[in-house]
Amino acid sequence: PEQKENHTAKIKDLLVKHNAVLIAHYYTDPDIQALAEETGGFVGDSLEMAKFGARHEADTLIIAGVKFMGETAKILSPEKRILMPTLEATCSLDLGCPIEEFSNFCDQHPDREVVVYANTSAAVKARADWVVTSSIAVDVLEHLAEQDKKIIWGPDKHLGRYIQQQTGADMLLWQGACIVHDEFKTNALEQTMALHPDAAVLVHPESPQSVVDLADFVGSTSQLIKAANELPHKKMIVATDKGIFYKMQQKAPNKELIIAPTAGEGATCRSCAHCPWMKMNALHVLSEVFEGNDKEIFVDEDLAKKALIPLEKMVNFAN
Ligand code: 13P
Ligand code: SF4
Repeated sequence: PEQKENHTAKIKDLLVKHNAVLIAHYYTDPDIQALAEETGGFVGDSLEMAKFGARHEADTLIIAGVKFMGETAKILSPEKRILMPTLEATCSLDLGCPIEEFSNFCDQHPDREVVVYANTSAAVKARADWVVTSSIAVDVLEHLAEQDKKIIWGPDKHLGRYIQQQTGADMLLWQGACIVHDEFKTNALEQTMALHPDAAVLVHPESPQSVVDLADFVGSTSQLIKAANELPHKKMIVATDKGIFYKMQQKAPNKELIIAPTAGEGATCRSCAHCPWMKMNALHVLSEVFEGNDKEIFVDEDLAKKALIPLEKMVNFAN
């Protein structure tokens, strides 16, 4: 605890000294989220983080999350310095969607609009017509389906299938997955539901179809938090990264929150409902964010210019 206090005090001083603001994702550790709140920073989903960073006047944004969030911040605010606790924090969706292969896939279907998830590299965004986050994906695809647009969607196959079912859009899906949500298991979830028959089941749409099918509510991180508060149930079984519990409990203080199981009894899980890359944003790592020269995000200027076009559509669509 003493070490924790030292790190916290050090970070608070540094934020003031460098005119910097801390912007954290819901999946980061509670200590990081609490610090962002205490220091006038921000905790939110990937879209809200992008908007907050672009509008804030600080010279330096510290992005506690994963690399695509830092890149998005840099593309939206090229004049700002964007630092991350570690540039090693990536995402299985970004890793599973290399630009050459994705671009070839798009080239084979020139009649289709390319819509990509925010969880992608700057290069993939630069190849896209639209960038969306899970909080606006259904609305954007509904809008495109109304104009009879045919779509290429990447990289998350589960989110793509969910959107397809919700909107009826004609979509070709890239076959990526999030290692955290892909691990939620139907049978184990049914057992948990049997133990808590009065609980509502909240599911992020990066989860497999069979898990989504068991949900009372499906939505992005911010939508799940809102639902936990608004649904009448006293208990919630939640299928998303357990980092979300910090904010969810804050917004729904009287509810009992239960994490959905990630593997059957006796089996081991890879992520155990916590993203290994989000986890890298530990307090002691954050306390060294101004040390060394390997924490700053740079994006190739040409790519940034191209990626800005669909990213601005994303930010403005949600306004
Ligand atoms: P949100 O867009 O709901 O924040 O989820 C993105 C995500 O999976 C971050 O890891
Ligand atoms: Fe990527 Fe999944 Fe981690 Fe989010 S939780 S950063 S989608 S691997």
